[in-house]
Amino acid sequence: MTTAPTELRTIGILGAGRVGTAVARQALKAGYEVKIATAKSASEISLIVEIITPGAIAVDAAEAASADLVVIAVPLHKYRTLDPELLAGLTAIDVMNYWAPIDGELDDFEGDPRTSSEIIQAYLPETRIVKSLNHIGYHDLEEDGREPGSPDRRALALASDDEEAKALVAGFIDRLGYDAVDAGPLSAGRAYQPGTEIFASAHNAEQMRALLEAAKQPAPS
Ligand SMILES: NC(=O)c1ccc[n+]([C@@H]2O[C@H](COP(=O)([O-])OP(=O)(O)OC[C@H]3O[C@@H](n4cnc5c(N)ncnc54)[C@H](OP(=O)(O)O)[C@@H]3O)[C@@H](O)[C@H]2O)c1
Repeated sequence: MTTAPTELRTIGILGAGRVGTAVARQALKAGYEVKIATAKSASEISLIVEIITPGAIAVDAAEAASADLVVIAVPLHKYRTLDPELLAGLTAIDVMNYWAPIDGELDDFEGDPRTSSEIIQAYLPETRIVKSLNHIGYHDLEEDGREPGSPDRRALALASDDEEAKALVAGFIDRLGYDAVDAGPLSAGRAYQPGTEIFASAHNAEQMRALLEAAKQPAPS
């Protein structure tokens, strides 16, 4: 696998729904070049992208995959429509959640002891998957960002089996206006999946570290 780029300039977003467009606007505010793609062609989405995310460029998925960092913001049940070859060698943030009470049960995830991101990593073996941005609502993402050092700055967790990818995404999270807190390997993302305290509300970095630490302890019998 090639190494992750150390400098981030372009963000490719797969998905122009609620989360994809919120990430796009926040990334544009932070000064990144943003390319956004759906399963449709660039020409089919160019007008809507211009209206909803002014400044972002509507592209085909292949061009989004030429960015320095990719954000996967498609509905989880559509993950098999992602092309593993296209995403090979890239660092990608998996913002997707398996939330059966809301989205319904999915055979690929129900009963599998792995986190949804570990299942995505297995489907995209040549992509460096970083689990993050899944535990902040799309509205909040654009409202809660703060300058570094602000007393009310919110923290976001990130987990990956690739340290370089994690460092790249930590820088991105910081530029979006959040303290990035390293949760550990991809499996540690279990601590902020739907149903957890981290998923349910906002936390600063100190609180986030404490919650991630507590999640490592075995549950009392
Ligand atoms: N809603 C939240 O606040 C929130 C917060 C954090 C995480 N999440 C998670 O983020 C994910 C996306 O949620 P959402 O609410 O943004 O969904 P959404 O509004 O339904 O948008 C999904 C987007 O993905 C596109 N898409 C589908 N297949 C694609 C593919 N193969 N390549 C590129 N784009 C594709 C769809 O476009 P076309 O079908 O037209 O191509 C659509 O633009 C979910 O897993 C959700 O659990 C949601």
